[in-house]
Amino acid sequence: MKAYDMVIKNGIIVTATDVYKADIGIKNEKIIEIAKEIDSNSAGNVIDATDKYVFPGAIDVHTHLDMPFGGTVSSDNFETGTVAAAYGGTTTIIDFALQSKGESLKKALEIWHNKAQGKAFIDYGFHIAITDMNDEILDEMKELIKEGYPSFKLFMTYEGLRVNDDVLLKALLLAKEEGGLICVHAENFYIIDYLVKKFIREGKTHPKFHALSRPTIAEWEAVSRAVKIAQFANAPLYIVHLSCMEALKEVTYARNRGLPIMAETCPQYLLLSEERYEEEGFNGAKYVMSPPLRSSEHLQALWEGLKCGQLQVVSTDHCPFFLKGQKDLGKDSFDKIPNGAPGIELRLALLFSYGVMTKRITLQQFVEIISTNPAKIFGLYPQKGTIAIGSDADLVIFDPSIERRVTKELLHENVDYTPYEGFRITGLPVATIVRGEVVIKDGKLVGQKGYGKFLKRKNLMVV
Ligand code: URP
Ligand code: ZN
Ligand code: ZN
Ligand code: ZN
Repeated sequence: MKAYDMVIKNGIIVTATDVYKADIGIKNEKIIEIAKEIDSNSAGNVIDATDKYVFPGAIDVHTHLDMPFGGTVSSDNFETGTVAAAYGGTTTIIDFALQSKGESLKKALEIWHNKAQGKAFIDYGFHIAITDMNDEILDEMKELIKEGYPSFKLFMTYEGLRVNDDVLLKALLLAKEEGGLICVHAENFYIIDYLVKKFIREGKTHPKFHALSRPTIAEWEAVSRAVKIAQFANAPLYIVHLSCMEALKEVTYARNRGLPIMAETCPQYLLLSEERYEEEGFNGAKYVMSPPLRSSEHLQALWEGLKCGQLQVVSTDHCPFFLKGQKDLGKDSFDKIPNGAPGIELRLALLFSYGVMTKRITLQQFVEIISTNPAKIFGLYPQKGTIAIGSDADLVIFDPSIERRVTKELLHENVDYTPYEGFRITGLPVATIVRGEVVIKDGKLVGQKGYGKFLKRKNLMVV
């Protein structure tokens, strides 16, 4: 019997704090040794990582796989979506189980467990998106926090999904008491509703009016309100997909006063600007997402926010819809275009190329933003989110010398476009390892469907 199932030799290990050269010994899904030199003969499988970085497996805490939305269903399921994620270096996702009106949270979880069961190539957990609150749901929240589902999302906008401030307050008070975390999609419903109806009345139906109907003040107001309600409740709060500098200022101001407010942004808000809505014909629909893309000054501010630690996470909000057959439900009017865009596969490559290579963030910050902070905030640390003895052997071997131009054909997402077409990238994962099993190696899928395991989460941390 070999001492190690696998040894990774000669890689440059990067954690949220350190960069150093060492070998990693893996046994029974875990990292059991990190040493200057581990004897290859004592390993069943040896991977040479010379001149490559070894990152902790990346964690994407915001994905929508197989989700009914906008009159259709997001086009990646737990098979195709987790394969694309693995190609990109993501070893864990946290997806959203969406409560239907009148149904229990447990019912939502049952549905999402069925969607994922036997399909995932990487590990997964669930947040629960609450759309219909009452006293029984509050009791359920309490129970589910203890059972490994400690995070909940509330929508402050979207007809049919949104909740009012009373629900937000109740949820925050409960989460505070029971050790849960409330995440919010923060946009002001009434501003948006007013503008959407106004534009349609005026015959302004092109995709660009999606963005014009969701100005930054709608996000700013809702973020500001959510932060203040959280402050009143003395509860931690996590803002999802933050897109503009006014909202960032609210978060920064709160954090500077020591409040437990956290926020994520996404690659699309760092790298794509509102000019995209002017692309010819109906192509602007590719970028119809909420919040929408912003002007370039906002992109700049978000990079600054990452650098300064005011934004703690970059997730993808992967919510793909085919341009042909799904986005075109809104051919005649922007408000019928399903909201969302693909991105699960390129998060690491984009953030490395446009963050690390350009020196906007350090290598250690990169790891913190894509893996360590998500693990800490959402209750997976130190099982995941770092390279340490006793942690799951979730590892990405990343070759910083690879150069590519992004095309849809390069990717494995089940959708007919990528918003990043033509982007130059430097650095790609060459191996993705989940609990000691290789899932992707040299551009080939070698993992097993159904290997990905459901993760119960607990002990959330404020970062
Ligand atoms: O447009 C978006 N972001 N679609 C996904 C659902 C959500 O709001 O996160
Ligand atoms: Zn959202
Ligand atoms: Zn700064
Ligand atoms: Zn989302």
